[in-house]
Amino acid sequence: MNNEDESSHLEISESNKQLIQQVFQLELDGHKDARELFKEEILGFLIKTDDGSFTLSSGKRGEESETLHSTFGARTEAFEKFVIPSKLLEKAENTTIIKVLDICSGIGYNVSALLDYLKDSDVEIEIDMVESSLETIATTLFIPDVCESHQYVKKAIESYLLKKGYLRYNKLLSTIPPNVTINIHICDARDFLKRHSNKEYDAVFLDPFSPAKCPELYTVDFFTQLKKCLTPTALVLTYTAASAVRSAFVDSGFYIGEGPRVHRSGGTIASRTQDLIETSLSFSDIKVIALSDVGIPFLDPLLNDDYLTIIERRQNQRRKSRGVTTFPSSSKLPRYLGLNPNEIEDESLREKLEFYVKEMGFTGLDDEKIINMLDIDQNLCSRDKILALKENLHNLLVKD
Ligand SMILES: C[S@@+](CC[C@H](N)C(=O)[O-])C[C@H]1O[C@@H](n2cnc3c(N)ncnc32)[C@H](O)[C@@H]1O
Repeated sequence: MNNEDESSHLEISESNKQLIQQVFQLELDGHKDARELFKEEILGFLIKTDDGSFTLSSGKRGEESETLHSTFGARTEAFEKFVIPSKLLEKAENTTIIKVLDICSGIGYNVSALLDYLKDSDVEIEIDMVESSLETIATTLFIPDVCESHQYVKKAIESYLLKKGYLRYNKLLSTIPPNVTINIHICDARDFLKRHSNKEYDAVFLDPFSPAKCPELYTVDFFTQLKKCLTPTALVLTYTAASAVRSAFVDSGFYIGEGPRVHRSGGTIASRTQDLIETSLSFSDIKVIALSDVGIPFLDPLLNDDYLTIIERRQNQRRKSRGVTTFPSSSKLPRYLGLNPNEIEDESLREKLEFYVKEMGFTGLDDEKIINMLDIDQNLCSRDKILALKENLHNLLVKD
């Protein structure tokens, strides 16, 4: 690790964590008002997002930190990217129990949005919240309520902290509705999946930091493990549209589609069942994933490598494959494959792209062999298009 603020997991900042630890200590020492004493200071870490809900800043991996949520609106993101596309409201009409896995629970916004969304449904709701950072989940107790359901999440967190001996005083008055069970698991999500492969969920909210910062929760191996704990009709929702994430889903056997667009950024929806995917990926995105080095996924064979090992493993694979077994992703080359180069107005871009393909032994972007490689059945689903293109690419570049 090359930064003082870096730990094995990317979580909230060290100073935020230390304050929470002081609250724990004071309360255990018998200070009934420890939380009130630290409230103002802890609220000082909150960042207000555009919809009035809050987020926090992470510690650092490398030079940068991230926020826990989109600054366009943490609560909006929870609804638009996770809860609404999960289709759990429809499901609630036809079942008696709904089970949800909330990976990277943070300050509980996805869970409170879900409970808000299902508040009029006559269904049992069981949620497993998985979060590596005790201090992050404890910070939730200080976040102003965004809705009534947020109080239920807080109550579940307080009960957990009391039961585990981190807090001493039962201060929250709210009562969790009898049809709701919230289980809290403080651990690495990879360990959770290893230990709970017998569970079956109706939906998964996959909400880690970005793939560049938290690759360990976007690997082929993690998704393979995740796939074992899903009902056939379950959807996995994530806010990222990164090619490496989408190809990891495909390599682990998922069908994939476009997630809802919120403030220009998309997301990804994955399922074991093809029919549940409503919006296909564009052919342009499919080409990038299937044909270029940027589509090489993260791997973590034993589900316990640190993030740098996972990043370096992919970087090495990309380096070896670029221009040899995959087209380079530079200048968005895969998007232009098969095009008549004269259609590219920007001369320097055209020259660059033509240079890349000629280096690989083709006559140009519209080399007949490239055009034949791209000729796949356009009625296939996104996953099968990616697999068909990958096979054609292999036949073109690798086989004899
Ligand atoms: C983007 S935030 C999630 C926000 C959250 N879903 C919410 O509704 O407030 C990412 C969270 O992942 C947690 N995290 C990081 N690495 C993890 C891991 N390996 N396993 C579980 N949680 C992890 C961080 O502590 C952080 O709280």
